[in-house]
Amino acid sequence: MSDEKLTSAKTREEDKSLDATLRPNNLKEYFGQEKIKGNLLIFMEAAKQRKEPIEHVLLYGPPGLGKTTLAHIIAKEMNVNIRVTSGPAIERAGDLAAILTNLEDGDILFIDEIHRLNKLIEEVLYPAMEDYALDIVVGKGPSARTLRLDLPKFTIIGATTRYNLLSSPLRDRFGSTYRLNYYNHPEIEQIINRSARILDIDIEDIESAKMLAKRSRLTPRIANRLLKRVRDFAQVKGTGKLNKDITRAALKLLEVDNQGLDDLDRKIMEIIIERFKGGPVGLNSIAASVQEEDGTIEEIYEPYLMQLGFLIRTPRGRVVTEHGYKHLGLEVPSELQEKLL
Ligand SMILES: Nc1ncnc2c1ncn2[C@@H]1O[C@H](COP(=O)(O)OP(=O)(O)OP(=O)(O)O)[C@@H](O)[C@H]1O
Ligand SMILES: [Mg+2]
Repeated sequence: MSDEKLTSAKTREEDKSLDATLRPNNLKEYFGQEKIKGNLLIFMEAAKQRKEPIEHVLLYGPPGLGKTTLAHIIAKEMNVNIRVTSGPAIERAGDLAAILTNLEDGDILFIDEIHRLNKLIEEVLYPAMEDYALDIVVGKGPSARTLRLDLPKFTIIGATTRYNLLSSPLRDRFGSTYRLNYYNHPEIEQIINRSARILDIDIEDIESAKMLAKRSRLTPRIANRLLKRVRDFAQVKGTGKLNKDITRAALKLLEVDNQGLDDLDRKIMEIIIERFKGGPVGLNSIAASVQEEDGTIEEIYEPYLMQLGFLIRTPRGRVVTEHGYKHLGLEVPSELQEKLL
């Protein structure tokens, strides 16, 4: 349901070609995430000097922040092939064995949605990640034996939006783990300006890019999608060029508020306030009240509300903050401070 929304960070049909057209190919065009880029540069350089493949890398964070993009850029910078698969696509141990034995030294295997790998497959992956070896069982019953096959020295890049669903033995097998963060406004503006150049969209003033950036949920995928929608609007209702009046009118029609919140974001906060006295309240109760899955709330809605400082997680549950009340135009209750402890 929420996937249909303009402000959903998840990939929608219309994004597939947009994502591909606008996906940066190198670290220079990959704006933001400076710390991660700094670390990666050193660690890629060191691996190159040693002529070794890089360690396994785990990338996690909310949808649309650039995990897939970064995996492809790493492969380009290392000048190696990248094979792409995903947790749910690997159904049997044999599927994984086929993929692994077809890799070449140095290749990258990108496993998207790695939290959805089944446990049996994970077990096959452990020796593959640690020792570049594949253990296969031949024969049945008492005569069954395990054969160990050597694999090429490859690198796994795993991506997930749900880090907490990853088993700890799997987490431990990654040499480095990076959490992608939400972008800041200037970074999103850079992304919007770059995308506008590629899509040949004329932005006449800086206010337009600023307005779009503010409503993008600090997420590149949403920024690009909004840009495209506003361009369509400008073409039909204006001269095709973006200026602040056209942009404001387009955004109004798209029903995204000035912080990028949509109905469900507001509903989540309203429900916590009205039914649960502002919290603390558990995720399950919130999800049940707004009739969404726990995972959707936890993966997409909550992180952004927390990023804005509208919601916080306490040991006893979620609580709406002073900023949250104010954004909804509600009076801040006097007992709020105690709840935030
Ligand atoms: N740092 C960045 N600089 C410029 N553009 C970016 C950046 N990160 C992401 N993008 C843009 O956003 C789009 C979405 O990014 P990407 O597909 O890598 O996200 P993701 O984290 O893999 O999302 P999901 O969790 O849904 O798979 C990309 O196609 C690219 O156009
Ligand atoms: Mg992705």
